[in-house]
Amino acid sequence: MLEKIRNAAQYIRSRVNFNSRYGIILGTGLGNLATKITDRTEIDYHDIPDFPVSTVEGHSGKLIYGKLGHTEVLAMQGRFHYYEGYDMKTVTFPVRVMHELGIDTLFVSNASGGVNPEFEIGDIMIITDHINLFPEHPLRGKNYDELGPRFPDMHEAYDRGLIAKAKEIAQRSGIRVVEGVYVGTQGPTFETPAEYKYFRIIGGDAVGMSTVPEVIVAQHMGMKVFGLSIITDLGVEEKIVEVSHEEVQKIGNERQPLMTHIITELINS
Ligand code: HPA
Repeated sequence: MLEKIRNAAQYIRSRVNFNSRYGIILGTGLGNLATKITDRTEIDYHDIPDFPVSTVEGHSGKLIYGKLGHTEVLAMQGRFHYYEGYDMKTVTFPVRVMHELGIDTLFVSNASGGVNPEFEIGDIMIITDHINLFPEHPLRGKNYDELGPRFPDMHEAYDRGLIAKAKEIAQRSGIRVVEGVYVGTQGPTFETPAEYKYFRIIGGDAVGMSTVPEVIVAQHMGMKVFGLSIITDLGVEEKIVEVSHEEVQKIGNERQPLMTHIITELINS
């Protein structure tokens, strides 16, 4: 695995003069952030040795290196979901490569179903913590001590300093944000009413099908993480309606500029 990580990183370095501390996984809600990156180089996943290639609708597969504001970033357009059939080592491989390139802060975004009754559709949730309900753990198997410890601490999986700054930015910019715990589950089904209720009872505020594996691997390597989730539907009794991928994408697209604004300000502050 170490060699694969190094090969991929070396290829990226051969394409760009790499000098960034910030990695961004462009999930739902951050697609348009990619269009704000200037002085850019795009690298297709296809061209990177050992890099997986994504399949799901609404996600393409390339790395974009360039400037967001005046800061260099590496953005991943198209992430790998467990429900697509990738194993967890593959889902999290890009985060390993980012770390190898010198990235120490990871920004993630996703779409989720709100289970907190105070939430509204379209809310932007700052992820303060998560509950991992994926059936496979990304760190299962041999531990590579060069990458991180066998038993990583998870007491601050989402960086409190970045959360505080993001709240300031949102307030200053008049953007309503909520905070909460993201429950990561495998999908690809959306939840039954009983499952939404269960996620609320165990301490969740929103549920989605991504992010948790990448965050665990980032933590393993000592990276700081900041995450935003866009509430695209509500798993709250009496408010549950049919959910579709299209609806999730639509709400995500509508709220994109606000998410992009928060992340851009955070990176440039
Ligand atoms: N459940 C799981 N994943 C999701 C949801 C949901 O309700 N909405 C968007 N992604």
